[in-house]
Amino acid sequence: MALIDEITKRRTFAIISHPDAGKTTLTEKLLLFGGAIHVAGAVKSNKIKKGATSDFMEIERQRGISVATSVMGFDYRNVKINILDTPGHEDFAEDTYRTLTAVDSVIIVIDGAKGVETQTRKLMNVCRMRNTPVMVFINKLDRPCKDPFDLLDEVERELKIKVRPLAFPISSGETFRGVYNIYEHNLSLFTSDERQTADASTVEFDDISSPELDKYITPRFAAQLRENLELVEGVYDPFDRDAYLRGEVAPVFFGSAVNNFGVRELLECFIRIAPSPRPSTTETRTVMPDEPKMTGFVFKIHANMDPNHRDRIAFLKICSGTFERNKNYLHVRSGKQLKFSSPTAFMAEKKSVIDFAFPGDIVGLHDTGTFKIGDTFTEGEKLKFTGIPSFSPELFRYIENADPMKFKQLAKGIDQLMDEGVAQLFTSSLNGRKIIGTVGALQFEVIQYRLEHEYGASCRWEPISIHKACWIESDNAEQLADFKRRKHANMAVDKHGRDVFLADTSYALALAQENFKDIRFHFTSEF
Ligand code: G4P
Repeated sequence: MALIDEITKRRTFAIISHPDAGKTTLTEKLLLFGGAIHVAGAVKSNKIKKGATSDFMEIERQRGISVATSVMGFDYRNVKINILDTPGHEDFAEDTYRTLTAVDSVIIVIDGAKGVETQTRKLMNVCRMRNTPVMVFINKLDRPCKDPFDLLDEVERELKIKVRPLAFPISSGETFRGVYNIYEHNLSLFTSDERQTADASTVEFDDISSPELDKYITPRFAAQLRENLELVEGVYDPFDRDAYLRGEVAPVFFGSAVNNFGVRELLECFIRIAPSPRPSTTETRTVMPDEPKMTGFVFKIHANMDPNHRDRIAFLKICSGTFERNKNYLHVRSGKQLKFSSPTAFMAEKKSVIDFAFPGDIVGLHDTGTFKIGDTFTEGEKLKFTGIPSFSPELFRYIENADPMKFKQLAKGIDQLMDEGVAQLFTSSLNGRKIIGTVGALQFEVIQYRLEHEYGASCRWEPISIHKACWIESDNAEQLADFKRRKHANMAVDKHGRDVFLADTSYALALAQENFKDIRFHFTSEF
C-alpha cells in the first residue's frame, strides 16, 4: 500500500477524562467494536484501583501491566485506529500531557451528572495549546444528568471551546429513552435490558415531525425532542468540519458507555471526521507525514519497576515516512546511528515485533537508559520536534542526599529520572539547593523508591513553600536583571540553565506579572 494510503487510513487519538467519568469503559467498548478484544473487562487492568492511592507500588505494578495497553491499535472499517492510553491516576497527569503531544485528536468523556471537572479542564488547556481537534462524549445518561443545554453551556464556558451537538438525548436516568443522532438522522432507542450488548436498536428518522416518533418515545418526549432539536438548530452553527479540525468547535455526543449506548455513533462519526496524521513542527521546518524519509520523536519513556527487568520502553511517534526494523536511524541528540531489531507495536492486549510502521503509529523501542523525552530520530536530517514541553509543576520539595557516600549515585539517578520525565529539577539561585517539582504527590515516593532500588542512593525530602514555577524571559535586559535581583530568593534555574521564577503564592505571581510588564511568564518549558 502506498504511504499516502497508510496515512489516510490512520486515526491516532487519546481519550481523556476526569477519573471515573468513563474513559476506561469507553475505550473498552471501542475495542469491542474493533474486535480487538472479545470480553468486557480486558482493559480494566490499567485502572488504578480505588483505595490503592497511597500504595504507589501497587499503582506502579498496575502501570507496568498498562504498558501493554499504552497504545491500543485496531482496524475498524478499514481504518487503522490507534488509541493512546493515558494514566487514570491524576498524579500521573504529566504523562497524560505528554501523550497528548503525540495524538492527532482527542475524545473527552464527561460525566453527565457531574459536568466538567478539574482534570478535564487542565487536559483541555493542553489540547488548546496545540489546537488539537476534540470531540466530547457526555456519558452516564442512564443516570439522572444535568440538563443537556446546561451541559453544553458548561462545556463551552469551562473548556473554552464552541460546541456543536451531533446527537441529543431524550431525558436521562430512569426515564432515559435514547439519543437522536443529528449527524445520521436516526433515533437510537435505549432499553435498560440491553446492558453490555453490541448494538442498540436504531430507527431511521429523517423527519422528526412524523407522528411515528410519538410511538417510540411517547408523545411527551417526542414533543420535547422536537423542541430541543429546533433549539439546537437555532442556537448552534451548522457543524463545520474545518472548524473542528482547527480545534475551534467540538462536536458533542451523548450516551452511556457501560451500556454500549451511543458508542457506535461516536465511532462512526469519529472515523469520518477525525484527522489522519497531521504535519508536525520542528525548530527548523514543518514535517509533512507523506515525506518519504522517516522522522519521529520519543514522547514517553516507561521504566520497568520489576528489578529483574530493569529496561525501559521508549515510545516513538512516527511523524513521516516508513519506519523499518533493523534500519539505521540518526538519534539526533547524540549524533549516533541506531537500529532496532525488535521494535514493537501494540495491539489491544498484546505486543508484537513489527517490520514497518507508518505516520500516526507508535513504536515501542527497547531502551537501556539512552533516550530522553523529546528525542528525535531521522534518516540523517538534524531535526528537533517542538511541542513536547514540560509543564509547570505544582508540588515542590527540596531533595537532600541522605547518604554522603552515595553522592554520585544520587546525581545519576536524579538525572535519569528527570530524562524520563518523572519530575523536574530546579536549582535554587539563593542557596544552590536542588528542588524537585512534580504534578502529583505520589511522584516523591516513586522517586525515593526508585533512587534506592535502581541507583542505590537514598534521599530525604524537605518542605518548601512554592505555589508555581514559571519560566521567565524578556527583551528588556535591564528589567530582567532588576527582577532577578529583587526576587533573588525566589529564583532558580532548570536543567538547561534557564531562569525560573518560583512564586510563593498566586498573589505574588500576579503582583510580579503586574509590576514587571516586560517580562513574559511561561507555564510550559517551550515558548
Ligand atoms: P475512568 O476510566 O474514567 O476512571 O472511568 P471508568 O470507565 O472506570 O468508569 C468509572 C465508573 O463508572 C465504573 O464503575 C463504570 O462502570 C461506571 N460507568 C461507566 N460508564 C457508565 C455509564 O454509562 N453509566 C453508568 N451508570 N456507569 C458508568 P465502578 O463501579 O467504579 O467500576 P466497576 O465496578 O463498574 O468496574
